[in-house]
Amino acid sequence: MSKPQKSLIALLAVLLLFFGFVVVRIGVAKPAAAVKVTKIPAGEYDPAVWGQYYPLQYASYKHTTDESPSPTGYGGSIKVQKSEMQPELTMLFKGMPFSKDYAEDRGHEHALEDLRESKRIGPASKGACITCKTPYVEQAYKEMGWGYANKPLTEMMGNAKQTIACANCHDPSTMNLRVINPAFIEAQARRGIDVTKASREDMRSFVCAQCHSEYYFEPGTTKVIFPWDKGVKPADMYAYYSDKPNGFAQDWQHPDSKAPMLKAQHSDYELFSTGTHGKAGVSCADCHMPYTRKDGQKYTSHWVTSPLKTLGDSCSPCHSQGTAWLQERVKNIQDQTFELQHMAGQNIVKAHEAISAASTQPGVDEAGLVRARELVRKAQWYWDLLAAENSMGFHNPSQALNTLGQANELAHQAIEAANAAAGIKMF
Ligand code: HEC
Ligand code: HEC
Ligand code: HEC
Ligand code: HEC
Repeated sequence: MSKPQKSLIALLAVLLLFFGFVVVRIGVAKPAAAVKVTKIPAGEYDPAVWGQYYPLQYASYKHTTDESPSPTGYGGSIKVQKSEMQPELTMLFKGMPFSKDYAEDRGHEHALEDLRESKRIGPASKGACITCKTPYVEQAYKEMGWGYANKPLTEMMGNAKQTIACANCHDPSTMNLRVINPAFIEAQARRGIDVTKASREDMRSFVCAQCHSEYYFEPGTTKVIFPWDKGVKPADMYAYYSDKPNGFAQDWQHPDSKAPMLKAQHSDYELFSTGTHGKAGVSCADCHMPYTRKDGQKYTSHWVTSPLKTLGDSCSPCHSQGTAWLQERVKNIQDQTFELQHMAGQNIVKAHEAISAASTQPGVDEAGLVRARELVRKAQWYWDLLAAENSMGFHNPSQALNTLGQANELAHQAIEAANAAAGIKMF
C-alpha cells in the first residue's frame, strides 16, 4: 500500500469510529418502532381505554402498582415512614403535617389513593393537592382556572376519580408528549421557555418535571407556584423565597425555635437538571422509562420505578461497565449522601433546641435570636432539598454533598448565634 492509501484508510477508520460513536449515543434517544396512532377523545382519562390501542405500554404501566424494595436499601416502592431511618424528621417538622405522616413514594397508580389516605390532609385541605395526582387537573383548570386550587380537596378528589395516567403526559389525539400542570407551564414561561415548542429530548424530562419539582402555595388563593425565577440551585430558590414572593413568607413556624420555616418538596428535576446526566442531555425517561422488548417489539417501558430494577435496560445503552459495578456506584453515592444528610438533620434539631433554650434566658438579645432563626431556616432548607429529593444524591452527587455540607455549617452557625444571643454557651 502506498503512503496516501494508508493515510486514507487511517482517515476512514477514524471517521468510522467517530460516526459509530455518534450513532450509538443518539440511537439511545431514537423513538421506539413507530406505533399506529389512534385518536382518543380529549378528556378520556381512563388508561384502560388507551390500553386497547397501546397494549405493551399499558401492560408495563400496570406494573406501577408493584411493591418491592430497592436493592440499595434507599427509595423503593413500599409505603414505609421515612422517620424509621431518620428519626430526626419528627422534630424537624414539628408543628406541621409532615411530622405526622411522611411515607416513601410508591408507583404512579397509587398516587390518588395515597393522597386520600394521607394523615397530612384534613377537612381544611385545598384542591391544589390534586395538581400532581390526576389527569383531571386538565379539565379542572379549563373549567375554573386556578379557582380549583382553593376548592375543598374532598370535592376535587371526588371529581378526579382517575390517578396519574396516560393523559398526564400524552396528547390523546397525536400521542405526542405534553405537559398539563399549569404551574409548570407558567414557571417555564417566566424563564422564557415555551413548553409547546420544547424539543422531544426536553419533553422526555419535562413530563416528569411538571410534578417532580419544588413548589409553594400562594397565600389566599392556594395557587401552585414553582420558585424558579432566579434559577433552580438551592441558593437561587432560597434567594427567591427571601423576597417573600406573592406574600409568601413561610410554610409554617417551628414551635420550638419560632423560626419561619420552608418545606421543600421532591426536588428531583432541580437536582437532576444541574447534574452530570442532566447537563449531558440524558433525560428522566432514559433511566426511568428505558426501551425494552417483548416478542421482538421495541417499546418504552411505562413501569416508572427505580432504575436499579432494570439496570441493564436503563444504564447499559450508555455505560459499558457491568450492572454489578453500576449498582455498587449508586449505592456508594447513596451511602455517602445519607451519612451527611443524617448528620446535618441531627445538627439542625440541636439548632432548634438551642434557639428555644436561648429564648427563655433572661435578658436575651432579641436581634440575635432573629439572626439565629434565619440561620436555622436556611440550614433546614438546604438539608430538606436533599431529604425531599428521591434519589438519595444520585441525581447530582457533587451538588448533594455540597448542599448538605452547607446545611451542616449553617446549623453550627445557628447554634453559635443562639449561644451568643443568650450570652452563655448552652450547646
Ligand atoms: C409519566 C409520563 C407518561 C405516562 C403517564 C404515560 N406515558 Fe407513554 N410515553 C412517555 C414517554 C416519555 C415516552 C417516550 C416518548 C418519546 O421518546 O418520544 C412515551 C411513549 C409512548 C408511546 C410511543 C411508543 C413507545 O413505546 O415509545 C406510546 C404508544 C405510549 N407512550 C402510550 C402510553 C399509554 C397507553 C399510557 C397510559 C397507559 C402512557 N403512555 C402513559 C411518558 C408517559
Ligand atoms: C402527574 C404528576 C406526576 C408525573 C407527570 C410524574 N410523576 Fe412520578 N410520581 C408522582 C407522585 C405523586 C408519586 C408518588 C405516588 C405515591 O407515593 O403514591 C410519584 C412516584 C414516582 C416514582 C416512585 C416509584 C416507585 O416505584 O417507588 C418514580 C421513580 C417517579 N415517580 C418517576 C417519574 C418519572 C421519571 C416521570 C416522568 C417520566 C414521572 N415520575 C412523572 C407524580 C408524578
Ligand atoms: C442517569 C439515570 C437517572 C436519571 C437521568 C434520572 N434518574 Fe431518578 N433515579 C435514578 C437512580 C439510580 C435512582 C435511585 C433508585 C433507588 O434508590 O432505588 C433514582 C431515584 C428516583 C426516584 C425515587 C425512586 C424510588 O424508588 O423511590 C424518583 C422519584 C426519581 N428518581 C425521579 C426522577 C426524575 C423526575 C428525573 C428527571 C428529572 C430522574 N429521576 C432522572 C436514576 C436516574
Ligand atoms: C443516555 C446515556 C446515559 C444513561 C442512560 C446513563 N448514563 Fe450515566 N453517565 C452518562 C454520561 C454522559 C456521564 C458523564 C460522562 C461519563 O462519565 O462518561 C455519566 C456519568 C455517570 C456516573 C459518574 C458519576 C456522575 O454522576 O457524574 C455514574 C455513577 C453513572 N453515570 C451511572 C449511571 C447509572 C447507574 C445509570 C442507569 C440508572 C446511568 N448512568 C444511565 C450517560 C448516561
